[in-house]
Amino acid sequence: MVSLGEMITNISHHWRQPLAVIGMEANSILADIDLETIDIVQLRANVSKIAQQTQQLSSSIVDFGRFVSDDLEKRSFDLALVLEKALQMRSVKIVDANIILTKEISPGLLITNHELALMQVFVNIIDNACDALMNVEVSERVLVVRAVREVDRVIVTLRDSGGGIAPTIEDKLFEPYTTTKHKSVGTGMGLYFVYKTVTEKIEGEITAKNVLFHDGEKQYKGAEITVTVGVDDTLQDLKKERDAN
Ligand SMILES: Nc1ncnc2c1ncn2[C@@H]1O[C@H](COP(=O)(O)OP(=O)(O)O)[C@@H](O)[C@H]1O
Ligand SMILES: [Mg+2]
Repeated sequence: MVSLGEMITNISHHWRQPLAVIGMEANSILADIDLETIDIVQLRANVSKIAQQTQQLSSSIVDFGRFVSDDLEKRSFDLALVLEKALQMRSVKIVDANIILTKEISPGLLITNHELALMQVFVNIIDNACDALMNVEVSERVLVVRAVREVDRVIVTLRDSGGGIAPTIEDKLFEPYTTTKHKSVGTGMGLYFVYKTVTEKIEGEITAKNVLFHDGEKQYKGAEITVTVGVDDTLQDLKKERDAN
């Protein structure tokens, strides 16, 4: 999960290298002019490098702008597409682990919310599912992603056959530093950020439980994470009013 501070650190890190290249190329052109050793082929190469680096800088500014505007205000988007994008972002992991992915996502789940934040939530949950699935046999790896609209909300469930959440951590799953993974792989911060994001930023709900389920003939055991999001702001405002009275 990325905060604004982390995003800025990231941006300044990404900007340093291209800026150094641009400065170097410009200085090289200046030196050639001063020494009257200017060569049109060399000059073209210098300028083309500058143009290339500028292009990179401007695309990272676009990403940054998107992040900030997502942070500041809610927008309308299709939740089905966000789920697809999150799955796409982890498709290599899913394919490499031979995970059988079942999608039951209703089309056109229009909601008004923070799109990027929600995508990060799903990516985190998918990451955990993939990690859990690595602990079971290859032939037993199933991930089922469901999303349906129910009146004023969309309910998303992500269910895996990875054995389920360990009973020892079940009641502190969403607390920071809760992890069963080796410290080189797990920080225990994923679901803490997910919980905070869903409850505070998205203004939705999240629950986790272990389930037994069938997929065709086979029976599986695993975790099921449910994220519930209101369809739009008007309804969320009404709910707040109702709760206040
Ligand atoms: N789908 C899942 N199946 C089984 N256990 C899970 C699942 N998702 C999360 N967990 C458990 O919750 C813990 C905390 O998850 P998280 O906060 O993402 O931290 P991390 O992945 O760094 O350990 C994990 O270490 C794991 O034990
Ligand atoms: Mg995690």
